[in-house]
Amino acid sequence: MKSPRIFVPNDATAVACGADRIARKLEAGLLARGITADITRNGSRGLFWLEPLVEVETERGRVGYGPVTPSDIEELLHGGFLHGADHPLCVGLVEEIPYLKRQTRLTFARIGIIDPLSLTDYKAHGGYRGLERAIALGPSATVEEVVDSGLRGRGGAGFPTGIKWRTVAAAPADQRYIVCNADEGDSGTFADRLIMEADPFCLIEGMTIAGLAVGATRGYVYCRSEYPLAFVVMEKAIEKAREAGLLGANVLGSGLSFDMEMRMGAGAYVCGEETSLLESLEGKRGLVRAKPPLPAHVGLFGKPTVINNLVSLATVPVILDKGGKYYRDFGMGRSRGTMPIQLAGNIKYGGLFETAFGIPLGELVNDIGGGTASGRPVRAVQAGGPLGAYLPVHQFDTPFDYEAFAAKDALIGHGGIVVFDDTVDMAHMAKFAMEFCSHESCGKCTPCRIGSTRGVETLEKVIAGERREANLEILTDLCHTMKLGSLCALGGFTPYPVMSALTHFPEDFGAAPKLPVAAE
Ligand SMILES: Cc1cc2nc3c(=O)[nH]c(=O)nc-3n(C[C@H](O)[C@H](O)[C@H](O)COP(=O)(O)O)c2cc1C
Ligand code: SF4
Repeated sequence: MKSPRIFVPNDATAVACGADRIARKLEAGLLARGITADITRNGSRGLFWLEPLVEVETERGRVGYGPVTPSDIEELLHGGFLHGADHPLCVGLVEEIPYLKRQTRLTFARIGIIDPLSLTDYKAHGGYRGLERAIALGPSATVEEVVDSGLRGRGGAGFPTGIKWRTVAAAPADQRYIVCNADEGDSGTFADRLIMEADPFCLIEGMTIAGLAVGATRGYVYCRSEYPLAFVVMEKAIEKAREAGLLGANVLGSGLSFDMEMRMGAGAYVCGEETSLLESLEGKRGLVRAKPPLPAHVGLFGKPTVINNLVSLATVPVILDKGGKYYRDFGMGRSRGTMPIQLAGNIKYGGLFETAFGIPLGELVNDIGGGTASGRPVRAVQAGGPLGAYLPVHQFDTPFDYEAFAAKDALIGHGGIVVFDDTVDMAHMAKFAMEFCSHESCGKCTPCRIGSTRGVETLEKVIAGERREANLEILTDLCHTMKLGSLCALGGFTPYPVMSALTHFPEDFGAAPKLPVAAE
């Protein structure tokens, strides 16, 4: 009989839910029964409410069981789960789970399927086809393919990736750099981490393509300090890619050189901002630089630098493999391709949902996400991280699209959606936004450094009912100053969560008795 193949995820979500203990218990149970099995430590599929999701390969496909606890293992083994037998924890064929089946997985096509550190697995699932094509096309055609795809930066600002690459390629220099922004500071987001932990070669391939396209021979991944596991997986994958000739002096025998290293951040949200990230990479305090010059002209160590979000770079292999047109055909308006939307907060089915742009917000929250985990009515979501607006239920028809969100003063950002039920106090959320800004401010400019502290004080007065109207006027004026006068988006965007809370939920600021949620 063929040895059964079992998959137990090894990413931070699954490990936090006990996946390591499950793997050990499984090994012991198999040993006791004299069964030889191949236990592959894959990454999560991104269906977090099912973690740890244990999968077994059967003739029908991979059958899943979850969420599994160590105490379930004996019963599962006894009940024939190695053959995909039925069990209360069985979720059937994993590929048929509606949450997964409804997705369009382009960037995240391999997560949860492969062994993250197996190059053989990676290549068997389409890996390195993009780099091969990029080498065949040559640098400028590679850049144009990315321009054609319509890919926009997935880190927050939504700037066209290909145009950024074109600028760096055209900048005269003896050295250029690729910097991957893996600081992933936005609330409720984990897409960067999942790629690093579940499909690290995808990022390596994307960065290599970027390097060869713009003539950069070195790359750095600036990884969030809270991601120790991702950091280790990436280091191992880089070493394997180097040994296989996929990084180094002669990438894939092309005669072209590209190599990369990992760097760990130190826990500052502002170090996700591209210029303070570069300062931090250079070993200095993470202070925002004034622009211009742009990093594309004067970046890391003063050299032209492509700085892209991790998801932007990890999307490049599929674009080069299948073509810019293929990618561009997904989406709506100027939002092309797919977005890994991360459903988090008080939500029943939290996880990663990669889909073409254009899906309405309400469908994501209620239909796909299943509403709140608490079972209470949804009251608001914060989209796009801590600098993003709060959207009330009556705006849930907004399509997930950069321009449609901007028209509502909202942000797509890195694709995070944090859900709140009707127990949330929006005045406190507004105060929290100001507190966050004052805590994370790099201190370089006055509207943000001083304004956020004054904002906290003013909101405290509003919440205490002290000269409410006058203090709200001060708050609105302060938000206006921060929006227009801040050097970067930390100070410049903090007014959005604050003002959206005030605009959509005035009753929480003492304006009128709270309306019943159903009437909103
Ligand atoms: C305060 C602040 C924090 C940011 N944090 C991140 C982050 O964690 N990850 C990220 O990719 N971009 C972050 N950005 C956006 C970056 O400055 C930059 O736009 C991005 O790395 C460019 O890559 P992209 O074009 O691929 O999105 C942040 C911006 C600001 C103002
Ligand atoms: S807005 Fe805040 S974080 Fe940005 S430069 Fe000014 S002080 Fe620094």
